[in-house]
Amino acid sequence: MKTEILKLKKEKNAVILAHYYTPSAVQELADYVGDSFYLAKIAKSIEADIIVFCGVRFMGESAKILNFNKKVLVPDLTADCPMAHMVAEGKIAEMRRKYNDLAVVCYINSTAELKCQSDVCVTSSNAVKTVKALKNKNIFFIPDKNLGSFVAKQVPEKNIIINDGFCPIHAKITAGQVLTEKDKHPDALVLTHPECEKEVLELSDFIGSTAELIDYAKGVDAKEFIICTEEGVSCRLTDDNPDKKFFFPEPCPCCVDMKLNSLKAVLDVLKNETNEIKIDEETRRRAMLSLDKMLELAR
Ligand code: 13P
Ligand code: SF4
Repeated sequence: MKTEILKLKKEKNAVILAHYYTPSAVQELADYVGDSFYLAKIAKSIEADIIVFCGVRFMGESAKILNFNKKVLVPDLTADCPMAHMVAEGKIAEMRRKYNDLAVVCYINSTAELKCQSDVCVTSSNAVKTVKALKNKNIFFIPDKNLGSFVAKQVPEKNIIINDGFCPIHAKITAGQVLTEKDKHPDALVLTHPECEKEVLELSDFIGSTAELIDYAKGVDAKEFIICTEEGVSCRLTDDNPDKKFFFPEPCPCCVDMKLNSLKAVLDVLKNETNEIKIDEETRRRAMLSLDKMLELAR
């Protein structure tokens, strides 16, 4: 399958983008692998005719919004991030009525429709910097309560109202599970994604996006790490650091939606050019404003 994918990729002038949570076989053959922010920036700059985006739906949608003339294909149209939908109908309008200087800050893990109603997008690697850079005092942070609380702690000068969405995968990681790993590996550093619950963040030595966790593990002298995020990051962590050991809380966190990006699904979409992401022009125009604002502020 790998040989066939590489051949088709060349014939059709396609590139493959993959998130760190996708299966290792897909990460191995992708042209670009990264966190959400890196992949959004890359997607915007792609010149090839076809982008095969291996991730979840909001990632493919963001690629299409940022690079509208390209054909964006996703290996499985049902691969979705449940958190992307977790903002109650009418909530944004209600908050806008309450605060007239409100900025709606939207985690990129959100539907295109939510991005349309927001002022700026953020990812876990630029949220603090972006919120700090906004002039507005009042911020409504959607959809993730955990990333929202993490940002609020780093930016105490703002009034940050936090929506109640969450990632079902990261929310399952408990402080008890982390302490159990700590008992087994007392010298291990705890590296955590900000989508985890507050109690887990409090036990952590470092908090960051998937790419930031990977960079941190590579840059420090420690030899053992407890990784509080989805298990897909382990392939890059072990490739980069053959002399270091990585442990995950038990049960090991696994995003089933990300795992729908199988080699077979990649091959099928490349061969048949199916599962194309379609966004209407009006949605694209409005959602692009908040994505472009993120790219501008994060620069
Ligand atoms: P990153 O931007 O850190 O890669 O996170 C994306 C994600 O979906 C985390 O669950
Ligand atoms: Fe969404 Fe959580 Fe999966 Fe990330 S790990 S894509 S936030 S469900």
